[in-house]
Amino acid sequence: MDKKVRRIGVLTSGGDAPGMNAAVRAVARTALANGIECIGIRRGWQGLINCDFIQLTRASVGHLLSRGGTILYTARSTEFMTEEGRQKAVTTCKMLGLDGVVAIGGDGTFRGALELSRLGIPVVGVPATIDNDVGCTNYTIGFDSACNTAIECIDKLRDTMQSHERCSVVEVMGRNAGFLALYVGTAVGATAVLVPEHMGDFEKNVIERIRGAKLAGYTHFMVVVAEGAGHATDIGKKIQDTLGIKPTITVIGHIQRGGAPTGRDRETATRMGYHAVMAFIEDRGNCIIGTQEGGIVEIPIEEALTMKKHLQMDRYKIMEIMQFGGGHDE
Ligand code: F6P
Repeated sequence: MDKKVRRIGVLTSGGDAPGMNAAVRAVARTALANGIECIGIRRGWQGLINCDFIQLTRASVGHLLSRGGTILYTARSTEFMTEEGRQKAVTTCKMLGLDGVVAIGGDGTFRGALELSRLGIPVVGVPATIDNDVGCTNYTIGFDSACNTAIECIDKLRDTMQSHERCSVVEVMGRNAGFLALYVGTAVGATAVLVPEHMGDFEKNVIERIRGAKLAGYTHFMVVVAEGAGHATDIGKKIQDTLGIKPTITVIGHIQRGGAPTGRDRETATRMGYHAVMAFIEDRGNCIIGTQEGGIVEIPIEEALTMKKHLQMDRYKIMEIMQFGGGHDE
């Protein structure tokens, strides 16, 4: 260890995700176990600007594994995007004597992390977003929980759709990415899945699939759409105009961001939080923690922000085959 780490800060920023609390707990407990004080910065980067903090103890991060949301609150700070705002954040770090900050969030959070690290404050990022759209890691905390929440909602929806022999359009989150929609659509046996990465031909991707299902004898149809691929109401209208059936519209919305994290999210958050603190202790700050091939990796922030993760089109294909190749909608 080159430089003794005495005190670190931890914050959550951007959209919340189930498992963020488990990550905060892991950061605090790993720090404390290594003789490092841990300060919780509240309300993300804005809290660093406003010197809004709480002292974290082993006890104060107890009973957090199963708790959704984030006890540190979260925010999207426009002030932090300005040079002046970031200078205030640096002043807080100096005032509190922070040797580094663990930032838990998505790409937006990590862009902030890069800026702060350029001003001399070491930062380690922990990826947490239900969208799973962070390039340097194949998994982000919260994805599994959000998928399971959406799946539970859609399973319920299917019961009533089946009874009434209806078509449903369900919108799931994912402003820029279709990971959630594809995973959920596959898991519920959707008739069609619309993702921003593969907009293609609406007639082929949606209309023809519903028609094919009808011709195969099915009487209810489920269309799952990522919010980034269009609004459920617009998709419903197009279906009505083309096929003459009026779909029911369900927007699952922010429910997907809440609730108790799944085992996968609790366990991943714990490992990532641990590794974030170890990166500081072993003098490898200014990186993002990620998972690749099942193991934990550390990627320099600047490089991490250039990395892209593409929707797995092989999985999209499997989802399609399930609709027409291997039986439909069961
Ligand atoms: O957390 C990411 C995300 O869920 C996106 O999919 C979605 O568009 C966005 O957050 C909405 O967040 P908010 O309503 O907090 O702006």
